[in-house]
Amino acid sequence: MIEVKHLTKVYGEARGIEDINFTMERGEIMGFLGPNGAGKTTTMRILTCFMPATSGTAKVAGYDVFEDSLNVRRRIGYLPETVPLYTDMQVPAYLKYVAGLKDVPWKKIKSRVGRVMEQVGLSHMAHKYIGELSKGYRQRVGLGQALINDPEVLILDEPTIGLDPQQIIEIRSLIKGLSGDRTIILSSHVLPEVSMLCGRVIIIDEGKLKAIDTPENLVAKLQASDSVKARISGPADSVISALKGIEGVKKVESSGAVGSSGEYVVEFVRGFNGSHLLARVAVERKWDLYELTPIKMSLEDIFIHIVTDEDSSL
Ligand SMILES: Nc1ncnc2c1ncn2[C@@H]1O[C@H](COP(=O)(O)OP(=O)(O)OP(=O)(O)O)[C@@H](O)[C@H]1O
Ligand SMILES: [Mg+2]
Repeated sequence: MIEVKHLTKVYGEARGIEDINFTMERGEIMGFLGPNGAGKTTTMRILTCFMPATSGTAKVAGYDVFEDSLNVRRRIGYLPETVPLYTDMQVPAYLKYVAGLKDVPWKKIKSRVGRVMEQVGLSHMAHKYIGELSKGYRQRVGLGQALINDPEVLILDEPTIGLDPQQIIEIRSLIKGLSGDRTIILSSHVLPEVSMLCGRVIIIDEGKLKAIDTPENLVAKLQASDSVKARISGPADSVISALKGIEGVKKVESSGAVGSSGEYVVEFVRGFNGSHLLARVAVERKWDLYELTPIKMSLEDIFIHIVTDEDSSL
């Protein structure tokens, strides 16, 4: 559905993006992650025909974004970083106007506007001028204009930015609900949001694609060891030395005490989970084992690792 090859954008002297390559199947949700200035918006602007690439190609639904931009625009909905809204228009009038621009057949415009207002939770704001709306509601209008042509492909640049926690939950579930047949790219600085919504993630840093995979695979590839957190009663010194004696244990660290028991982080060599051996040791020594939980790297850990480590790419 989306095919990006050697995509490069140079802004005068400045770097935009450099040799970005990826493909997406219909129905996928892809997350763009990267620090400020990484190139997320640049990539999205090229895919949505807002500006041409310096070199490389991009195809959306089989159409080249440069050669066949009209066909691409018809199939795409774009929520830009800053939505160009007309503050002196009422919400339905604005959505009708965008529907016209996007070639929605005139007979369908009224029903599309009503449907979209419902989808993004704007029905009760129908009488308001856009200028009167709060930031979060304007963001909903932005999402509404992206959806008005019922697009096959949705490109959402930081869709939940500026929304309150309740709205964030609603917009996330709206996005989730829009997936299915639709192909969606979204950028976000909220990493749990990306893990929650996206089947795959692209990490972009300094204009380059550093990693592309499912959040789970990224974690599995980068997780250097298997660690567990254990809470055990018993004298700390004896516990630590007993834990260090277990097969496959690389490192043991005390991470505090809860009542009469101590908390320990036990790191095993990669790919070896010795939790059962740890439990056995506790039983043999007659120590009580209150907790034994695996410690997983989060997408946040992965992201920090990739963008702070110069040589890192996956
Ligand atoms: N119109 C422009 N003219 C010149 N340079 C630009 C322009 N737009 C973006 N850039 C540069 O291109 C690079 C990528 O910017 P881009 O806006 O794509 O980043 P981003 O990943 O979306 O960042 P953010 O998280 O801050 O939104 C940056 O170095 C930026 O300064
Ligand atoms: Mg951006």
